[in-house]
Amino acid sequence: MSDIKPHLKVGIHRLYSSDKNKIRAHFMRLDAESRRSRFCGTVSDGEVVRYVDEIFGHDSITCGALIDGKLRGIAELRGVYYARPAATEIAFSVEKDWQNRGIGDALFDRVFAIAQNRGVRMLHMLCLRDNNRMKRIAVKHNAEVSYGLDGIEAVLRPDWPTPLSIAQEVMGETSGYVYDMTARSCMALLQAGRKAMQALAVRPAS
Ligand SMILES: CC(C)(COP(=O)(O)OP(=O)(O)OC[C@H]1O[C@@H](n2cnc3c(N)ncnc32)[C@H](O)[C@@H]1OP(=O)(O)O)[C@@H](O)C(=O)NCCC(=O)NCCS
Repeated sequence: MSDIKPHLKVGIHRLYSSDKNKIRAHFMRLDAESRRSRFCGTVSDGEVVRYVDEIFGHDSITCGALIDGKLRGIAELRGVYYARPAATEIAFSVEKDWQNRGIGDALFDRVFAIAQNRGVRMLHMLCLRDNNRMKRIAVKHNAEVSYGLDGIEAVLRPDWPTPLSIAQEVMGETSGYVYDMTARSCMALLQAGRKAMQALAVRPAS
C-alpha cells in the first residue's frame, strides 16, 4: 500500500479530456531530468504538447494526484480495452518537489486496481536503467523486472477483479470527490464570510 505522509492531502482522481490543460501544465512543470525519465529520452515542449493532445486517444485511462487542488502527478494506463494482453502500458510522472513522498506508489496502486478491475492480465512498464525509484516501486509490487541495453522492463500480472480491488478504485475516487467537495464548500463559506465582513466594515455608521 502507499505511504503518503499523513499531513499531505493527496486526492487520486480519474482525469478526463476537460483536464488536458492541467495535464499539459503538469508535464511542463517537470524538470528536465524527470521529463527525460518519464519519456525515456529527451522530448521538446512541442512534443509534449502533441503528446497531451492525444493522451485520451489511445484506449487509455489517466489518473492524477491532486495536492491542494493542483495536479502534481499522473499515472497513465494505455491499451486498456483493445490492445490486451500484450500492449497494456503504464507510465508515471511526479513533479520534483513532490517526489519521494509516496505519491508514485499511490498512483501505482490506483492504476493497478483499475487495470485489474477491467480484466487486464498483463501490464508493462518501461523506464531508464538508472531509474531506481521506479524500479523500487515495480519490485515492491512483485513485477518481473528485466534489464535491456538502455532500459528496464517491468511486467505485472494482475489477478482477476476482487471485491477489494473494486473497493479500492471506488472508495479512492469517492474519497477524493468528498475531499474536493468539502474543500470547495469550505472555500465558498470562507469567501462568503469575508464578503460579509467587508460589507459590514464599509457600512457607514448610522
Ligand atoms: C518515478 C516516480 C514516478 C516515483 O514517484 P515518487 O512519488 O517519487 O515515488 P514514491 O515516493 O512513491 O516511492 C519511491 C520509492 O523509491 C525509494 N527510493 C527513493 N530513492 C531511491 C533510490 N535512489 N534507490 C532506490 N530506491 C529509492 C523510496 O524509498 C520509495 O520506496 P519505499 O516506499 O519502499 O520507501 C517519480 O519519482 C517521477 O516522476 N520521476 C520522474 C519520471 C519517471 O521516472 N517516470 C517513470 C517512467 S514511467
